Amino acid sequence: MKDNSFILKEFLDNAFNLKSHLMEFFSMQESDLDGFLSNAKINLANLHPGDALSDASDFYSDIVGDRHVADLAAWHISSKDYIADTLKLQQRFSTNLVLDFGGGIGTHALANAMSKKVEQVFFVDINETNRNFVEYRAKELGVEKKLTFCKTIKDTQISKFDTIVCLDVLEHLDNPAAQIEIFSEIMNSNSIALFNWYFFKGEKNEYPFHVDDSKIIEKFFKTLQSNFLEVFHPILITTRAYKKIR
Ligand SMILES: C[S@@+](CC[C@H](N)C(=O)[O-])C[C@H]1O[C@@H](n2cnc3c(N)ncnc32)[C@H](O)[C@@H]1O
Repeated sequence: MKDNSFILKEFLDNAFNLKSHLMEFFSMQESDLDGFLSNAKINLANLHPGDALSDASDFYSDIVGDRHVADLAAWHISSKDYIADTLKLQQRFSTNLVLDFGGGIGTHALANAMSKKVEQVFFVDINETNRNFVEYRAKELGVEKKLTFCKTIKDTQISKFDTIVCLDVLEHLDNPAAQIEIFSEIMNSNSIALFNWYFFKGEKNEYPFHVDDSKIIEKFFKTLQSNFLEVFHPILITTRAYKKIR
């Protein structure tokens, strides 16, 4: 187990060896890596079928393949100070049993698994490539015993989590209100949930997969305000910490 400042330094230095993990997992040469990462955002956006998609989860489970890994890796490398702030935030709150819902390339789940305060991290992601990639990373980083990989929350077979991390995921779901209701059911009175959201498709439709329907957003905020109370934290980022109201 490592202390918090060491974990942050490892992330800021090399994103937990992200580049070498990408090369090894996807059998790429260093010379292929730039091509894999550059234009990842636009490549992901171009994959989106627009209104033809009837269920948002199909995009992440069946269509994106390894394109989401590329997009998230490029983002975590280029915005490492922002991501490091989200790691600082989870270091304040994460304890015991942690759910990382929509865990992506695993930065937050891996950092939580390195923490002394955390007993087990349940990495839930609908995308099989993401799950396999993060399982590979966990083994490389020697934290595989503290991580469990699941496609759905039900598969974790855990009734209550002490911490829920759901970062940059809610805007990808057809019904974000229903998702936070599920989170509230799997929290106890001391649990903390970390949420952020970005219900915006971008100035130039860079995020065609983000929900921006005003009715869905209003329902989300009503559900948030009736189920959760914000817990103050001093880190200047949009991610918020919550406990259950009842
Ligand atoms: C923008 S990424 C965020 C990844 C990570 N939380 C981060 O902050 O870098 C959204 C993630 O949510 C996952 N996802 C989308 N819909 C999901 C669902 N219904 N259940 C579980 N995961 C889902 C995607 O596969 C993807 O890894």
